[in-house]
Amino acid sequence: MITNDVDKAIAVLQNDDVVAIPTETVYGLAANAYSEAAVKKIFDLKQRPLYNPLIVHIQSIEFLQSVATDIPDDAIKLARAFWPGPLTLILKKKNNIPDIVTAGKNTVAVRVPNHPLTLELLRRLDFPLAAPSANPFGSISPTTAQHVHNYFNEEVKVILDGGPCEMGIESTIIGFENDVPILYRYGSIAREAIEQVIHNLTVITKSEQSPVAPGMLLSHYAPKKTTYLVDNVEDFIHNSNAKKIAALVFKNPLINAAIVQQEVLSPTGNLQEASKNLYSALHRLDSSDADIIVVERMPQSGLGESINDRLQRASIKH
Ligand code: TXA
Ligand code: MG
Repeated sequence: MITNDVDKAIAVLQNDDVVAIPTETVYGLAANAYSEAAVKKIFDLKQRPLYNPLIVHIQSIEFLQSVATDIPDDAIKLARAFWPGPLTLILKKKNNIPDIVTAGKNTVAVRVPNHPLTLELLRRLDFPLAAPSANPFGSISPTTAQHVHNYFNEEVKVILDGGPCEMGIESTIIGFENDVPILYRYGSIAREAIEQVIHNLTVITKSEQSPVAPGMLLSHYAPKKTTYLVDNVEDFIHNSNAKKIAALVFKNPLINAAIVQQEVLSPTGNLQEASKNLYSALHRLDSSDADIIVVERMPQSGLGESINDRLQRASIKH
């Protein structure tokens, strides 16, 4: 059921079951982070491999101590600067977090989401919520309640509807190695914004074997249709023999007989707007009757870096 009734979500969560929750980034599939049985249901629903750990959502920075320990100064700085908001910190975990949440690692991923309904929910619960994005493993993340419903139907009993997600792509993930900050996943906070708060940030997002963060998997966030990421969509179409093309462009619409459906992410060229619209546009293009999806690469700065990261993982290499 799609609802905005927080009471219904609380009842399901207290019963060790799963609800979908809105956040400012994407919708999550949430369960009691302290309950192994409840968290197991998330993995089953998503068909997510157990080696892929989940993010623990807490209501405020004050609750950080209840899930993590040995917190580096830079982590506190970042939390103060960006929470509530789309920043996930990887920290040494406390023993109360079951192994299933962290895939047996001694670290836990934590964030305070910035959405009024989910913050209300968290304040009224006496446990934090473990939640990955609310999509089957590897597919496009949901940014509306309807996207979640399209994936899971009534298998998810309560989908808390908080409207379309404001940011539109997942949180930026920062961890620490010997207290040195590392960006593991590009996300809704641009790298430059992180670097205004802390220095000597290292970026490690490419590894494919045994990824630290499986959002790092090279193929992820993917539409069902074959998707190409290109610098110039018209040149690509010119050299392609595909008859029906779905096109995703940044700001300027194209006129071409082969394009059967087109999405313009931001007519004014605003990367924040583009990020907000990205997954909805991909969902629509993926359900069009085109043969392939062709996507224009975004400018590689600010949030463009994060959007391009997702587009690279959504597309095939060619
Ligand atoms: O914006 C978001 O982060 C959304 C909303 C729902 O909060 N959540 C999300 O979760 O994107 P998910 O599961 O799709 O991505 C979480 C990422 C995964 O790549 C996972 O591997 C990584 O976080 N992760 C979780 N715990 C980790 C840990 N202890 N060490 C390294 N990576 C971790
Ligand atoms: Mg995900």
